[in-house]
Amino acid sequence: MVRPLLAFGALLGIAVSAVRAQYEIDEMFSTTWNSSKVVEYSNPAIKFVPGPALTQSVNSTATTPDVVGIKVLDKQVHQKVDKIGAGITDAASIVLQAFKEAHPDDYWTLLHLLFSQDPEWVQRGGAGLNAVRSPLGASDFGLAPYSYDDVFDGSTDPQFKLFTIDKAPKLWQTLQDIIKVNPNVKTYFAPWSQPGWMKADYPGSQPLFGGHLIDGYEDLMAQYLVKAMVAIRDEKGIQPYSLSVHSHYPTSRSNPSQLAKLGIATRRRLDEAGFKDIQLLGLDHNWDHPQEVLDMFDMSRDDTWDGVAYHGYAGDPRTQIQFTDAYEDKSVHFTEYTTVTQNFNEPWPNLKEKSTKILFKSVRYKSESIILWNACLQVDEDGFTTPHLLNVCQNCLAPIHLQPNATNGNATAALADPSGSKMRTLGMADGTATANGTTAPAAAAAAPAPADSKRTHKQRRRALTPHSITPRANAVPAAVAQSVNATTPKPVNQAPFQQSSYYKRTSDFSFLSHVSLAVRPRVAGGQYGRLIGTSSTEKPAPNDDGSTPDPVAGRVLASLFRSDNVDPSNAELSRFSLVLLNQNDHYGTQNMEDITVTIAFRGTVANVTLGVGLYTMSWLANKTSDLPESA
Ligand SMILES: *[C@@H]1O[C@H](CO)[C@@H](O)[C@H](O)[C@H]1NC(C)=O
Ligand SMILES: *[C@@H]1O[C@H](CO)[C@@H](O)[C@H](O)[C@H]1NC(C)=O
Ligand SMILES: *[C@@H]1O[C@H](CO)[C@@H](O)[C@H](O)[C@H]1NC(C)=O
Ligand SMILES: *[C@@H]1O[C@H](CO)[C@@H](O)[C@H](O)[C@H]1NC(C)=O
Ligand SMILES: *[C@@H]1O[C@H](CO)[C@@H](O)[C@H](O)[C@H]1NC(C)=O
Ligand SMILES: *[C@@H]1O[C@H](CO)[C@@H](O)[C@H](O)[C@H]1NC(C)=O
Ligand SMILES: *[C@@H]1O[C@H](CO)[C@@H](O)[C@H](O)[C@H]1NC(C)=O
Ligand SMILES: *[C@@H]1O[C@H](CO)[C@@H](O)[C@H](O)[C@H]1NC(C)=O
Repeated sequence: MVRPLLAFGALLGIAVSAVRAQYEIDEMFSTTWNSSKVVEYSNPAIKFVPGPALTQSVNSTATTPDVVGIKVLDKQVHQKVDKIGAGITDAASIVLQAFKEAHPDDYWTLLHLLFSQDPEWVQRGGAGLNAVRSPLGASDFGLAPYSYDDVFDGSTDPQFKLFTIDKAPKLWQTLQDIIKVNPNVKTYFAPWSQPGWMKADYPGSQPLFGGHLIDGYEDLMAQYLVKAMVAIRDEKGIQPYSLSVHSHYPTSRSNPSQLAKLGIATRRRLDEAGFKDIQLLGLDHNWDHPQEVLDMFDMSRDDTWDGVAYHGYAGDPRTQIQFTDAYEDKSVHFTEYTTVTQNFNEPWPNLKEKSTKILFKSVRYKSESIILWNACLQVDEDGFTTPHLLNVCQNCLAPIHLQPNATNGNATAALADPSGSKMRTLGMADGTATANGTTAPAAAAAAPAPADSKRTHKQRRRALTPHSITPRANAVPAAVAQSVNATTPKPVNQAPFQQSSYYKRTSDFSFLSHVSLAVRPRVAGGQYGRLIGTSSTEKPAPNDDGSTPDPVAGRVLASLFRSDNVDPSNAELSRFSLVLLNQNDHYGTQNMEDITVTIAFRGTVANVTLGVGLYTMSWLANKTSDLPESA
């Protein structure tokens, strides 16, 4: 009996390998340029059919959309992308805690919408975030400058007698609530400034704005940072994931040699305090100082830094390559970005910019995390986002905008009491809060705001002149391709889409939802996605000055991720998630044109016709190539 069965099995094996595997795009997540679809989740049932990859883009005729080819290079396996999130600042915490007080049920729903990993919340339009980043002491998004060790009489506190992290109770409360919703959330921490008594050369009388760490104080600052990590762990029950030391913020600048000393001291003191696992990150600032980053790593010990963190306000993401070439074993993180909002940037220019800079560029150059700035801000009656320090971006976008009625006027109370402690503030123009309720000398009127420089200037809301919009009439309806047997997309979300009149989800929320859906595990014990190679038939235009053009260019941009272990019964099975941006908007003239994308995967192709917007589509396939890649 045994022999025939084996023979039958062998025959079957031959038969299987001779038959091409069938792949089908069975999930699609769509955000259109005008938010007519915000986070629509559907099953387009588009089958891949045998065929060659497109070799060059085809421009439209009167009756057909342009065609762009994206080829999956699935033998190119890059880094895992497994931290998606946003900042929990004093500003975000103040408004979230006021919302909790006014509408506790809606508050918990909102935290689930942002952070729950439960599939039910994906169905309800949740973002499934798993990372947060918080300042150690004040940042530009809060109500007053403070550190965890402030003295106001010109003395110093090398014994840290005044040290306390209790100046930010709303922040700790918010983080603790988030951890209740997602116990595996990764917490990043970074200081905006050293305590004032550790600094020199600041303009005016507010030491937290400007200046630098005094030479020789590196170990004291390391002690300060590690005391904060210990207090966060032991007093607040929050396990820190990552710590950045300070680099180049306008609130305090350091040179590479001082940063190396600070990094070495911090790593040593972290290890002594039992924090060997904390990711110590260098830089945590923009792309525009690539040489300083290399110098600082060169001057440090091999084991000082775990990685580097970038922000998106200045410089070119391609400078990450200089770092990753020199330090290929170090991790790369993207930890902060916000853009000026208001109607002229929301939703499409912002969606396009965030996804291009962060997903299609920074992640292409090895970033394993995507973290935006404030997770939440409140919109005031005039449409400005709040709260923030004076001279700081007053209309910066956040994924969630609480509406004026979300806090029932209790935000006003919160604004008068930024920390929730008895700290008094007289407003930034007059003076600064002290821990004991007196008022410190006024900050210099000209003090630079503690922010990345791009965000420091006010940008008043512009009167809107509506663009004339001419969606291009394609003969083929903008849905799915012609030659596949796909029918009308069937919606797969069963649970009602979560709506609330107390807050709005912006295009930042949509962007985070796309990247999160593309990488996060689908089953317990599953893994976050790895970046997989792709190539495109779109070619960048040559630069006038002959320099190498940015390769991330063209009407369609793409990133592909492979999530393994998606089926407990078949370890070979993986899900491939392709994030596509159709930016065929004719350079913002709003002549919105559909595109057909021909996706080539393992000798098969699928056509998908997309309106202008951001799309994440996915299909199941074996982890390793079932068939040789076609030429
Ligand atoms: C959104 O844009 C699409 C074309 O891209 C158009 O068909 C639709 O009517 C627009 N919806 C709104 C609400 O403007
Ligand atoms: C097709 O159109 C794009 C822009 O829409 C242009 O950059 C490209 O040169 C065109 N290609 C051909 C072959 O005409
Ligand atoms: C405002 O906050 C206070 C506590 O500070 C609370 O008692 C009150 O119910 C809140 N008001 C509203 C309208 O939610
Ligand atoms: C508050 O702190 C300031 C500066 O350290 C000090 O001069 C003052 O005496 C303190 N006031 C109280 C009430 O403790
Ligand atoms: C995809 O579209 C291209 C261009 O229109 C066409 O040549 C090709 O046959 C289509 N392939 C499939 C599988 O539909
Ligand atoms: C489309 O459906 C027809 C009829 O069911 C079938 O013969 C054909 O092979 C299908 N084509 C594709 C690309 O799946
Ligand atoms: C809250 O305010 C928004 C607009 O700011 C409004 O659309 C909504 O209906 C209000 N919700 C409630 C419950 O009053
Ligand atoms: C996928 O992997 C499984 C388990 O190794 C194997 O049985 C199956 O034949 C593979 N499928 C294809 C299409 O290669």
